[in-house]
Amino acid sequence: MRMYDLITKKKHGETLTKEEIEFIVDGFTNEQIPDYQMSAFLMSVYFKGMSLQETIDLTMAMVHSGDELDLSPIEGKKADKHSTGGVGDKTSLIIGPMVAALGVPVAKMSGRGLGHTGGTIDKLESFPGFSVSLSEQQFFDNINRMKLAIIGQTANLAPADKKIYALRDVTATVDNYSLIASSIMSKKIAAGSDVIVLDVKCGSGAFMKTIDEAVELAKIMVNIGHGVGRTTYAVLSDMSQPLGNYVGNALEVKEAIEALKGNGPKDLMDSCMTLASYMLLGVGRAASVQEAEDLLESTIKDGSALNKLAEFVEAQGGDASYVWHPEKFPKTVFCEEIISAEDGYVSEILTDEIGITSLLLGGGRETKESEIDLSVGIRIRKKVGSYVRKGESLARLHANDLDKLRAAKPRLLNAYHFSETRIEEPKHVLGIVTKDGVTLF
Ligand code: URA
Repeated sequence: MRMYDLITKKKHGETLTKEEIEFIVDGFTNEQIPDYQMSAFLMSVYFKGMSLQETIDLTMAMVHSGDELDLSPIEGKKADKHSTGGVGDKTSLIIGPMVAALGVPVAKMSGRGLGHTGGTIDKLESFPGFSVSLSEQQFFDNINRMKLAIIGQTANLAPADKKIYALRDVTATVDNYSLIASSIMSKKIAAGSDVIVLDVKCGSGAFMKTIDEAVELAKIMVNIGHGVGRTTYAVLSDMSQPLGNYVGNALEVKEAIEALKGNGPKDLMDSCMTLASYMLLGVGRAASVQEAEDLLESTIKDGSALNKLAEFVEAQGGDASYVWHPEKFPKTVFCEEIISAEDGYVSEILTDEIGITSLLLGGGRETKESEIDLSVGIRIRKKVGSYVRKGESLARLHANDLDKLRAAKPRLLNAYHFSETRIEEPKHVLGIVTKDGVTLF
């Protein structure tokens, strides 16, 4: 086989075989195929597309390029969730304990945040001592004992995806459905869970700007999952504003603790309930969404989900007293209200700008090596649909450095857009994609 011929084949819109796709992925990962040929191939995929079978073959070739977690030592069907990236997204911190409290094993491999979206591990490290460096045996033992554990993503999980993504990023070939879907699904499949629930975000702050685009991506990912024997659902959710009312590591953990006490904001809870319900449906713990929601609500009412969070934090070396005394999380030196200069209905809050505001305050990583300040962040006071009067506060910034606070203020103001006419509060959960079809709400 020659890479030249395979590029030509795709350039003419022909379908590649499994062996040809494996040749490309293995050759590129082993550095036998140079960047320039892989770039030409990616651009031909961008213009000519890939069939579902080609996309499945690409996904599995990337899965086999590195470690695949064998979760068979864990009893029962395992459920996982994945979000396509959001600002203020602390759903894993709420869903993990709720689902685990119902006896369903959640074996999660999570990432750190890079750029303006936060990572679950960074948030969890707000608990002093918390660590994701568990051995594989500890990971299995913790899940068998208490149904929930989180480890960091191993360097060797789908290494082909890492290499291909880096090239896509500099060759303008990121935004192709097959390439995005195979990239996301390769990591989820290699992480080993039986049930995968995807949170596909849609809106100004997301990869997918419109609902049609989000549906298209979701359908491909659900089909890939089922095509390789994993029960997969995709929840379509709105990203025209940050999720919940807080952005920033410790602030989000505190919001998650409040949510587990029954005091979570509606958009955050709708999202968590829907994602967690499909995890329960997928593993067979509930027979309907209604039954799943009732079960999940019971874990909040009887305190079992909050207890589970504390048990999980302690099992991974963290100080669980913070769960019971969230006032112990460090506070920032400065807090400043950001005042609206106009009257009007909030029509949009650009999530990217909010993410960048948090980054500028020191809450995110500019590079992999950056240290992050866990205490800084934003309290969102006005969400889309709220009426704001001139002089009212839109948000509160929590900062430890006056220069960073000064730099962050205009970004926050820039994130807010207003309308003179009334704006409806947006629905947060927009639809569900299963192997049987698409339901939009
Ligand atoms: N996230 C991924 O992991 N891969 C993509 O291609 C896009 C988003």
